[in-house]
Amino acid sequence: MTYDIKSLAVIGVGIMGSGIAQIAAQSGHRTYLYDTKDGAALQAKEKLAATFQKLVEKNKITVEQAESANQHLIVAQQLEDLKSCDLIVEAIVERLDIKQGLMQQLEQIVSDTTILASNTSSLSITAIAANCKLPERVVGFHFFNPVPLMKVVEVIQGLKTDQQIIETLCQLSHAFGHRPVIAKDTPGFIINHAGRAYGTEALKILNENVSDISEIDRILRDGVGFRMGPFELMDLTGLDVSHPVMESIYHQYYEEARYKPNPLTKQMLEAKQLGRKVKQGFYSYAIGSKSGEKPAQYVEALTKYPSVWIAADFAEDKQRIEDYLIQHNISLDTGEHPQAESLCLVACYGEDTTQTIKRLHLNPEHTVAIDLLYGIEKHRTLMPSLRTTSEYRQAAHSIFNLDGAMVSMINESIGFVAQRVLAMVINLGCDIAQQNIASVDDINAAVRLGLGYPFGPIEWGDQIGSDKILLILNRISALTYDPRYRPSPWLQRRVALNLPLTFNSEY
Ligand code: NAI
Repeated sequence: MTYDIKSLAVIGVGIMGSGIAQIAAQSGHRTYLYDTKDGAALQAKEKLAATFQKLVEKNKITVEQAESANQHLIVAQQLEDLKSCDLIVEAIVERLDIKQGLMQQLEQIVSDTTILASNTSSLSITAIAANCKLPERVVGFHFFNPVPLMKVVEVIQGLKTDQQIIETLCQLSHAFGHRPVIAKDTPGFIINHAGRAYGTEALKILNENVSDISEIDRILRDGVGFRMGPFELMDLTGLDVSHPVMESIYHQYYEEARYKPNPLTKQMLEAKQLGRKVKQGFYSYAIGSKSGEKPAQYVEALTKYPSVWIAADFAEDKQRIEDYLIQHNISLDTGEHPQAESLCLVACYGEDTTQTIKRLHLNPEHTVAIDLLYGIEKHRTLMPSLRTTSEYRQAAHSIFNLDGAMVSMINESIGFVAQRVLAMVINLGCDIAQQNIASVDDINAAVRLGLGYPFGPIEWGDQIGSDKILLILNRISALTYDPRYRPSPWLQRRVALNLPLTFNSEY
C-alpha cells in the first residue's frame, strides 16, 4: 500500500494537539482540528492565529506564511468531517479504552487507506490498535512539548503496523522540520526509556547520602555538561509528571532493577512538593527564582602542601594529574610506594576510596580519590575516605582550587557521582540498542534532541572510553551486588572485540 499525506486531522487540540496542528499547517498541509469540548477547536485555531502573528512580529515567518498557515487550519464540527483525511493524529486524554474506542469509531468513517496515529507517551500502540479492523494502519507518532521547538518525533511501529506507514510518517516528519526516530512499540519508546537513568541514579546517590542536591546538580551540570542538574530538571518537569513515568516504566518492564524509582519522589508527591509549579520541589522558588542552592566551597591556598603520590587505573589520568600538579608547583612523590607523609591521590573507577585503599594497601588517613572520567578542566570531584584526616582533605581540596576551578567534596560512593550517572546513561542506551528498539543513530539523535543531553548515549560512551564505562559497571556490580549496574551485552561484546559502541553488524 502507498500513502500520500495531503490532508490530516488532529483530534484533541490541547497542548500537544495544537502544537502538532501548528507545524502541520506551517508546512503546507490542510489540517483539520477536532475536539469533543465545545468550542475548543475554534479556540485552538484562534490561538494559533495569534501565535503566527507573534512569529511575524519576531520576523520568524512572513505575513504570507502566516496567512497560508491560517488558511490551512480548518475547524471540524464532527468526526464525519474528517472522512477524506489521509492521516489522523489523536492527542486526546491518555486512556487506553478511550483511545481504542476512538480508533474503532474512526474506522467507520475514514477510508481503508487513512493512517491512524496516536501521540500517546505511555500506552502501547499494539494495544490501541487491538480492536481495529485494520490494525496495520495504526501507528505511534509521538511528539514532545513544546512541539514546534522540540524537533524530534518518535515514529512507533506496533506489532502489526505496515512498514510503508513508518516510511510515510518519516517523510512527513522531515516536511514538518522534525527529525523522525523509529522505535519499536516498547514501554517509554526511546526517549522516555533512555531518560530513566539520569534522575533515578541521582536519586539513589542522594538516598545514599553521598552528597546534597546542590553538589550533585553541580557535578552533573558544571562538571559533566548536562544542561540542567537532575534535581533542577525534576523541579522543572514536576514530580506529578516524572514520578508516574518512573513508576510506569519500572512496572511495565516487570520490576527491572535498572529503572527502579525512589521512595523520596513518591513522598514528595504525597506532600505536594512537586517542583517549580508549586514553588517548592527539591529547591524553593518562593521568592521567584531558585533558592536553597548551597554555594561551591573554596579552600584558600595553603602555605605548605604535602608531596602527592598518584595511582590511577588509566595512565592518561595519571599524566593529567601530574601535569596539573607540576603547573601549580606541587611536589610529586614518584616512588613505587608512597612516602609516609605523602597525600595519596587515587584516580579510580567504579570503586569508593575504601576499596581502592584496600586494593593498593594505602594509608586511609592520607588518601583522597578523584574522579577523572569527565576530565579536570572545569570542575573536580574529590572523595576522601571515612578516615582521611581533615589536614589531608583540606590539602587535596586546596590543591584543586588553586586555578579557581570548582571542587565538589563528596562522601564515599562506589563509583563517585558522575561515573555512576554516566555509566547508567550509556549502559541504558546500549541496552536499548541491544533490545533492537531503535538504531544506534536514532537512539543518539533521540537523546540529544529529546532529552537535550550534550551527546547521544552510545556516541558518548565511545568518546569517554567504553572500557572505562565497562570497568565502572563491573566493579560497581561486584561491590554492590545490585543487578541495576550489570553491563549490557552490547557494551561487553564491543569492548571485548575492541569495536566502537556505535558498531553494528551488517547481518
Ligand atoms: P490536554 O489535556 O492538553 O489536551 C487533550 C485534549 O483532548 C483536550 O482539549 C480535550 O478536550 C480533548 N479530548 C479529550 N477526550 C477527547 C475525545 N474523546 N475526543 C476528542 N477530544 C478529546 O492533553 P495533552 O497534554 O495535549 O496530551 C494529549 C496526549 O498527548 C496524551 O495522549 C498525552 O499522553 C500525549 N502527550 C503529552 C505530552 C505533554 O507533554 N503534555 C507529551 C507527549 C505526548
